[in-house]
Amino acid sequence: MSVHAIPERPARYFLLRSRARVERMRAAAVSLANPLTDTWRTRVPDEPAPDDDVTTLDALARAIDRCTRCPLYRNATQGVAGEGPKAARIMLVGEQPGDQEDRQGRPFVGPAGQLLDAALDEAGLDRRRLFLTNAVKHFKFEPRGKRRLHQNPTIAEIDICRWWLDKERALVEPELIVTLGASALRGVTGRSVSIKSMRGAVHRLEGGGRLIATVHPSFLLRMPDRTRAAAERAAFVADLIRARKLAA
Ligand code: URA
Repeated sequence: MSVHAIPERPARYFLLRSRARVERMRAAAVSLANPLTDTWRTRVPDEPAPDDDVTTLDALARAIDRCTRCPLYRNATQGVAGEGPKAARIMLVGEQPGDQEDRQGRPFVGPAGQLLDAALDEAGLDRRRLFLTNAVKHFKFEPRGKRRLHQNPTIAEIDICRWWLDKERALVEPELIVTLGASALRGVTGRSVSIKSMRGAVHRLEGGGRLIATVHPSFLLRMPDRTRAAAERAAFVADLIRARKLAA
């Protein structure tokens, strides 16, 4: 393989190139009605995300908010980083922020979060001692009038966003990860495996830590059959109890 000498460039060259990149991003940004402000807005971070300065959870949260690694940042209000103590032993991973999470900038504060909170209580887990995050950090939705309807992230979006999940994992170093739903399972394992095939067992993770897989709280919220919903909810709480015991 031949090696080419790279001519040295003045610092101004890189500055102009980075400005041009920001201009290109501005031009590519899509405008959508954002119910947060009820105005048409375009969200484009001023600069590309600084990927390297992430040695603290605060720095990581700022970098996530400025992420432009995939197009989802264009229409979301903000990037929603994980929340919880750095010393948390258990990390709960969901799919992506929903409408409320996107507005408030915190994971699991909407209807699915309320169900999760109640289930955590029942399982004897204190949310304040857990690290809660998502496989994808920006809300993906389809605008319908003033409403924003949740859309599932694609495998590509989950895989791109693993960049941030891995950084959260590296900083928190949880003993146990609980994946909530299929997107979370893909985000953590990098494989498309079914929840059914993983549920009920404890799995060792490459690079340390263990994993248990369960369903997403939204799955329980959507269930029309009340008897089945109650049984599924009980199984969900049982998974959380197993998590508590494993990390004790
Ligand atoms: N659903 C998720 O997966 N995560 C949230 O933060 C909220 C809803």
